[in-house]
Amino acid sequence: MTTSRVFSGIQPTGDPHIGNFLGAIQNYVRMQDGHDAVYCIVDLHAITVPKDPEELRANTLRLAQLLMASGLDPERCTLFVQSHVPEHAQLGWLMEGTVSFGELSRMTQFKEKGDRSEFVSAGLFTYPALQAADILLYDTNFVPVGDDQRQHLELSRDAAQRFNSRYGETFVVPEHVIPPVAARVMDLQRPDDKMSKSAAAENGLVMMLEDLKSIEKKFKRAVTDSDGEVRWDPENKAGVSNLLSILGAVTDQDPKNLAEQYTQYGALKVDTAEAVIAKLGPIQQRFAELQADPAETSRLLRLGAEKAREVATVVYERARTNIGFLQP
Ligand code: TYM
Repeated sequence: MTTSRVFSGIQPTGDPHIGNFLGAIQNYVRMQDGHDAVYCIVDLHAITVPKDPEELRANTLRLAQLLMASGLDPERCTLFVQSHVPEHAQLGWLMEGTVSFGELSRMTQFKEKGDRSEFVSAGLFTYPALQAADILLYDTNFVPVGDDQRQHLELSRDAAQRFNSRYGETFVVPEHVIPPVAARVMDLQRPDDKMSKSAAAENGLVMMLEDLKSIEKKFKRAVTDSDGEVRWDPENKAGVSNLLSILGAVTDQDPKNLAEQYTQYGALKVDTAEAVIAKLGPIQQRFAELQADPAETSRLLRLGAEKAREVATVVYERARTNIGFLQP
């Protein structure tokens, strides 16, 4: 029996928040077992919005350390930086010839980010073509992501199918794996909006490396509602339901069952804060230890890129042959 392959990517655009952790990173860690798991720090994607070079370099290393501190083990998975494997950019171009302008125009993430930025790069528009390349380059079966990546994953599937029907069987058609709980962690102050780094108010956003006291305060101040009943109802009670899903995702429990254990918002907030802190505290400690040896992190990332290339070169070769490029 062949083991199935898992692939996912995360951008090195500043430290991740608890939405990234609960919606994605926690599942990366779980899926290391029983799968051939490949995880990529997508620096090529990060430059679709201009970045300070030193900051990008530092953020890439920090993210690798934080992923390892969260439980990604370079012995049990492949962890690498996207620009270290040139086949991503190469297959990305083939994907730009595979997806259409119309499809890219319909991507809601592009519309949101494009509307917010003064300078809209061409790469921000074609970003999902590169994301398809990332996934297809590893004959990926499963892609663990948060809910906001659903549309990009659908496009990756369409791209694989279209390429296969145009040029013959080349790519595996991937499936997304979206967690049943906390696939969309909401802002603590504006619970109708997704938690994101571009949050309107800093109090709505909880970072993985944030001071634990500050995390406690933010949960205590989380916006709920005035009807005073703890009930799982994401549509009508977004704030309370968000707290229940965060608590559920951290403690591995069903938010609906949790709702029945609470009568007061205050107790729910305190317990959610405590559970998040209990999870993040040890991760922050391991992160500090890993930070002491950046050369070791770089060495592990180089090994990761070598492992990744063993697969990526084979799949890219298949794609370039099938599309009709002359052998050099
Ligand atoms: P990125 O870097 O924005 O986010 C990384 C992961 O975190 C998830 N996520 C959330 N989950 C729950 N609640 C939230 N509030 C929340 N915010 C973010 C995202 O869904 C994602 O899984 N385009 C991707 C990076 C990428 C990629 C790939 C992913 C590039 N190539 C190939 C999968 C496969 C992105 O920008 O993720």
